[in-house]
Amino acid sequence: MLLVTGGAGFIGSNFVLSSLAGSDEPIVTLDKLTYAGNLHNLDALRGDGRHIFLRGDICERALVKQALERHRPRAIIHFAAESHVDRSILGPAEFIDTNIVGTWNLLEEARAYWGALPAAERDAFRFLHVSTDEVYGTLGPADPAFTESTPYAPNSPYAASKAASDHLVRAYHHTYGFPALTGNCSNNYGPYQFPEKLIPLIIRNALAGEPLPVYGDGLQVRDWLYVLDHCEALRRILAQGRAGQTYNIGGGAERKNIDVVRAVCAILDRERPRSTGSYAGQISFVKDRPGHDRRYAIDGSKLRAELGWAPAQTFESGLASTVRWYLDHPEWVEEVASGAYRSWVETNYARRDAA
Ligand code: NAD
Ligand code: DAU
Repeated sequence: MLLVTGGAGFIGSNFVLSSLAGSDEPIVTLDKLTYAGNLHNLDALRGDGRHIFLRGDICERALVKQALERHRPRAIIHFAAESHVDRSILGPAEFIDTNIVGTWNLLEEARAYWGALPAAERDAFRFLHVSTDEVYGTLGPADPAFTESTPYAPNSPYAASKAASDHLVRAYHHTYGFPALTGNCSNNYGPYQFPEKLIPLIIRNALAGEPLPVYGDGLQVRDWLYVLDHCEALRRILAQGRAGQTYNIGGGAERKNIDVVRAVCAILDRERPRSTGSYAGQISFVKDRPGHDRRYAIDGSKLRAELGWAPAQTFESGLASTVRWYLDHPEWVEEVASGAYRSWVETNYARRDAA
């Protein structure tokens, strides 16, 4: 039995679905269902006895304790977080609550549970913390990529909250011997990603005939990883990673934002051609994100050397299948474009349109 926190979100739901497609080991998903959590992501598992969904907040200690005692997982994979940088800039409070206090609660309850396990189960237990490359800060154009020993220098409230959670995970291993591992991953993309993040937002706005907002000069660089490749890397780390270690996970696909936006437009031009011309005509440069990190890049050599993992998708193949997924699931996109989502979009982009 695995306990997955945040399993109704983007990466978590891909992890739950792909894990159960390849194994019969049961999974308990614990998710608060914030605006980013969508139970429909797990529709394929309705009536499947291998999956249990628990609605709950990782900040509620009693609930976490009860879930652990009742389901007795052999591992916890911790995705639950507030994950959107722009939201953290407008309002960091939830990021502190969930990413820092929530992770600490989970660590406390998991440590108590782990400490009481019989010896063989205690030895086998793992806590896999899902974190981000943003904890390392920003790179110049010629800087070497982030390694696991790059000093932490988080720049947004989101990144700072994830850095704090990473430090707690590290401390629990160092101090208590708690068998935790951390994955620091680059930008994911793929099915079920909430359309507040760059790629699904561009797909949605393009099809709706709305502006495609590019922050600043659009020359910021991200390293893009197809979500199912990330999920496979996490399974590899869970199975073979060394407790106490951190592993960088990257797609080896550094791209400028403007090139990502143009690539999405080019795919849509092929898949959904319009008589009015390319979707790229909707590109609109808007005010930059405050404190915007210029470049992220991952050195993934540790994961490759120790665990033999490499991404299966190129950026081009992953992006084409992602765009196709969104074209094939208009109802999913419409559903998440709810009132709450619209009011968030209005607050965020009202400031930028004034640029
Ligand atoms: P997401 O925002 O799509 O999903 C987060 C999920 O966590 C949602 O289902 C939400 O309901 C749940 N959640 C939030 N607060 C909770 C709480 N207090 N208790 C229980 N559940 C709660 O996020 P994502 O993009 O899938 O990211 C998952 C994890 O991966 C995060 O920890 C994020 O920091 C990390 N990460 C994301 C990326 C990326 O590109 N998306 C890259 C690297 C690391
Ligand atoms: O690097 C890993 C991180 O990637 C994760 O830890 C975060 O959870 C995840 O949200 C993501 O953070 P980013 O800020 O890089 O992702 P986002 O999709 O918000 O933005 C990607 C880039 O595109 C970034 O440089 C900002 C830019 N951007 C974003 C939006 C939403 C735009 O230019 N226009 C937009 O409208």
